[in-house]
Amino acid sequence: MNKLSEEKVFRDPIHGYVRVDDSVVWQCIQTKEFQRLRRIKQLGSTSMAYHTGEHSRFAHSLGVYEIVRRMVNEVGDLKEKLTEYEKITVMLAGLLHDIGHAPFSHSFETIMHKKHEEYTVQIISQKSEIKDILDNYSPHLADDVAKVIDGSHPNGILCQMVSSQLDADRMDYLLRDSYFTGTKYGEFDLERILRTMRVADDKLAVKVSGMHTIEDYIMARYHMYWQVYFHAVSRSYDVILKNLFKRLVDLYKENPTKILDEYPMYRNLLTKEILSNEDIFDLDDSTCLYSFRLMSKGDDKILADLAMRLLTRNLFKYSNPQNSQDILSKLKEKGYDKQYYFYWDHQTQNPYTPYNGQTHSIWVLMDNGEIAELSSVSKIVSSICQNSTYQDEKIFFPKEVL
Ligand code: NI
Repeated sequence: MNKLSEEKVFRDPIHGYVRVDDSVVWQCIQTKEFQRLRRIKQLGSTSMAYHTGEHSRFAHSLGVYEIVRRMVNEVGDLKEKLTEYEKITVMLAGLLHDIGHAPFSHSFETIMHKKHEEYTVQIISQKSEIKDILDNYSPHLADDVAKVIDGSHPNGILCQMVSSQLDADRMDYLLRDSYFTGTKYGEFDLERILRTMRVADDKLAVKVSGMHTIEDYIMARYHMYWQVYFHAVSRSYDVILKNLFKRLVDLYKENPTKILDEYPMYRNLLTKEILSNEDIFDLDDSTCLYSFRLMSKGDDKILADLAMRLLTRNLFKYSNPQNSQDILSKLKEKGYDKQYYFYWDHQTQNPYTPYNGQTHSIWVLMDNGEIAELSSVSKIVSSICQNSTYQDEKIFFPKEVL
């Protein structure tokens, strides 16, 4: 009853096939909450820098599920140690980990009061099609899936598989984002990682013979951040998006009725502290893109200009923060309001953070049967960890200012 009569497959350029044979997984994919992810681009503004990076969160979520499914079926230790119920729980956690994501990646969250991780838990644990399906399978399933996703599940191995520094989420997005952007930096040998994965000392670990693949994966992560995720063009788009939402909120505070009439798609966001699962269903890329078109024709000059910049990729320029005084005085001279036409952006990244004793670390299973934290045995990883935080600051402003 819990298995489908015939395995279902999704064609996928990263994994070949995504395979589904559990009916609870199949049912969750059919829900309105999961289908919404088709309408949200995984990389948001990154497609402004890499125009082919247009894949959806739907594809990524299926990919994460597929990596978890392979772990529980192909990693011998997991196959033996986990119960059927735990396998279902962790596969669903992989599938549903991004279910509360807003459109346009993280910039949209500037006008939401809760983070997407909290909305993910809300959709799984409060009235939704997904919740009904999980409850129908087992009264504790929704709670257990939510706990794996937020990292509070008592079985740390399950959390490690979905949310750690070497988890199915990161492995899928690095491979997928690298494939769809046409960059090669994100590639690493997933097959080798799965082949050398073990459970030791109640932790997920990788055999020392697979350590070089893990080093490759850490380097892939490092390069993808600087070359793709923090690309200046994508950051510039996000800066304009944040300033546009700031302008929208400021106008709403001045004249709520007018703004709600003009932009009804943002009614719930502007008036409610916490969105309902129904409200989240209405939020996708098309909601935003349509609002930008309306704004570009609206009577507020700043909102119209910022929206038009997004629609036509007329993005802000960037410079070193040491030039900020000069840029700010030029903005003033030319009549630009710095609240909406200036942004100091600070990005930081740790390619790998060794937290000793926590499941979040990456563990290496040595030949003598002991486990060691990755940076203590890998020279490459320990050297990139020495300069532990890589950061970059840029100021953004309209190019017309210069
Ligand atoms: Ni994800």
